[in-house]
Amino acid sequence: MSKIVAIANVAGGTGKTTTAHALAVACVEYGKKVLLLDLAVSTSLTFQLGLENERTTLTDFLQGAPINESQIRTVAERFDFIPSNSRISSAHEINIFSKFLEILPKEYDLVLLDTPSTIDPRLVMALDVSDLILIPVSPNLHSIRGANQVRKIAPDKSIFGFKVEMRSDANTWDDSMEYLDALIPESELVDSALTDTSSVITLNNQSEIASAYRELAYSLLEKLELI
Ligand SMILES: Nc1ncnc2c1ncn2[C@@H]1O[C@H](COP(=O)(O)OP(=O)(O)OP(=O)(O)O)[C@@H](O)[C@H]1O
Ligand SMILES: [Mg+2]
Repeated sequence: MSKIVAIANVAGGTGKTTTAHALAVACVEYGKKVLLLDLAVSTSLTFQLGLENERTTLTDFLQGAPINESQIRTVAERFDFIPSNSRISSAHEINIFSKFLEILPKEYDLVLLDTPSTIDPRLVMALDVSDLILIPVSPNLHSIRGANQVRKIAPDKSIFGFKVEMRSDANTWDDSMEYLDALIPESELVDSALTDTSSVITLNNQSEIASAYRELAYSLLEKLELI
């Protein structure tokens, strides 16, 4: 069975999509087979990867359409991806989603879920199916509050934070959270990657942020006993 990991924080703009993309690339570098899914209503990841006009999307599968291997894209960065569209899901899809993950036509070590910044059925669904929830936390009240909302929705799950050094206003980290080993630095590469289809790792393989995301991937794979 694949390990399912949701990257979640109910606060907007906290680095979820950047992280989901970079972790997919870093885990592929560690030799893992990775499927990345875009569950965010904004579908930023689908847009970023240039796959906005695909005929079949995750929404079709969440409505029960059968899936075959040809509907899964393997992108240049060597992870698999199923594009999304911005339709809001219904609570009914939660059951279908966990079945869908069981009958995927390919084997994956890891399925990474990018999630929305709103408490909607797709977020609840992503948290519900996850083996581990990964929360980006910055030293500001906005992100700490968003992290705590995720912990309230999924109190029984294995939850780890990781530190992202941006928009500091409190200069303190929330010390009630258990963190994975990695400190993601503030980096201009994140915005440069927006005009490219690549992750920050591919954009500059030797950068400080690329190393930090590799370290985060390693520590995630250790927690999942995949390394
Ligand atoms: N490490 C970083 N260094 C500098 N800026 C960053 C970093 N990570 C994220 N950002 C900034 O935050 C913005 C939002 O990042 P991202 O899209 O990854 O967050 P998100 O949590 O997915 O947002 P949303 O809630 O809209 O889905 C980026 O466009 C960038 O400006
Ligand atoms: Mg996002």
